[in-house]
Amino acid sequence: MAAAEDGQWVLMATGRSPTNIAVIKYWGKRDEALILPVNDSVSVTLDPDHLSATTTVAVSPSFSSDRMWLNGKEISLSGGRFQSCLREIRKRACDFEDEKKGIKIKKEDWEKLHVHIASHNNFPTAAGLASSAAGFACLVFTLGKLMNVKEDYGELSSIARQGSGSACRSIYGGFVKWCMGKKDDGSDSIAVQLADEAHWKDLVIIIAVVSSKQKETSSTSGMRDSVETSPLLQYRAQTVVPSRVLKMEEAIKNRDFELFAKLTCADSNQFHAVCLDTSPPIFYMNDTSHRIISLVEKWNHLEGCPQVAYTFDAGPNAVLIARNRKTAALLLQKLLYYFPPQDKDLSSYLVGDKSILSDAGLHSLEDVEALPAPPEMKIHDQKFKGDVSYFICSRLGVGINVVADESQALTKAKRCSIR
Ligand code: DP6
Repeated sequence: MAAAEDGQWVLMATGRSPTNIAVIKYWGKRDEALILPVNDSVSVTLDPDHLSATTTVAVSPSFSSDRMWLNGKEISLSGGRFQSCLREIRKRACDFEDEKKGIKIKKEDWEKLHVHIASHNNFPTAAGLASSAAGFACLVFTLGKLMNVKEDYGELSSIARQGSGSACRSIYGGFVKWCMGKKDDGSDSIAVQLADEAHWKDLVIIIAVVSSKQKETSSTSGMRDSVETSPLLQYRAQTVVPSRVLKMEEAIKNRDFELFAKLTCADSNQFHAVCLDTSPPIFYMNDTSHRIISLVEKWNHLEGCPQVAYTFDAGPNAVLIARNRKTAALLLQKLLYYFPPQDKDLSSYLVGDKSILSDAGLHSLEDVEALPAPPEMKIHDQKFKGDVSYFICSRLGVGINVVADESQALTKAKRCSIR
């Protein structure tokens, strides 16, 4: 982000937004431009300390155009989705005054002021972990703060939705539902919080970032093809998801892990079945993803009730939700037995909440080598070193937030923070 010239003022705001992972998937739009979905979806928000986007937005009379930098590299803002978000926020901007700093911006002046936006993810963008959800949610929220937008979170979620559908769910922490809405203008297609992050503290989330050389079909084009060609998608959206969402809400309310896990796994599998039902078929999961599903299914079966839920988005990474820490530690042992690190030490092979390693009794690579074979698997002799790039251990987390600490702002420009 460039610094202002000639001592002109710069006004800025910084926000941090988490990523989210859907346990009832959004797949298919009924309106491409407004990004209106064909069904409701439900997600869990991941702890922003482990997976989040931080965005600083700034305005200054010295800026001559709108510009954006993602992870330090300038990117174009000309796309329709960025333009929708900028337009919708500018429309709602209000008068702003900071007497001490001598800055006064009238509602109508915001149209003439250009913005500079710098965004950074605390996880690799290429890992395919819903970076656009966190990014658009953060952009909309932070621009809203800067421009003194008074709209509530529901309204902000419907603007973030126009950047990327799943972004609307990143506004809130905990468990979130995106209500598809009925109106043609999309004003009722908003996210609501079902329960906050403190509601179900036992859950532990382990993400296996699966190595993949294959170029994936983007969610946007994949779901467009599904809407056009998959009869299963019609059935899913009209018949399966409505009752599944109600059951999921019950499961969350009652902290009923058995029901939660069954619904989560079934919905992930049906989403990938829709992908196969698409013409041409879309393959997001790979052999490693299938191996992880098989491990979890066999373990759950042996225990007689689910210990772990799995879900996969538009890529091969596994998101595993364990019912508690003890289960998560056991899960980690099983995963590391089959997928030991290749050329990596343990502390870079598991990132995020590393304390799970000591819960699992894993202090060194020797401990990993000494792990016993998981009893539920029939074939023990094969290991898949290198098939998982790394693991992330996380938990449920808070929603979007203002970053008050100016040292966290992604700019060296003259600082003039708001509020
Ligand atoms: C499989 O929100 O990335 O992750 O609205 O076209 O930007 P666009 O798609 P996007 O799709 C996410 C699809 C999913 C499921 C989900 O997050 O619900």
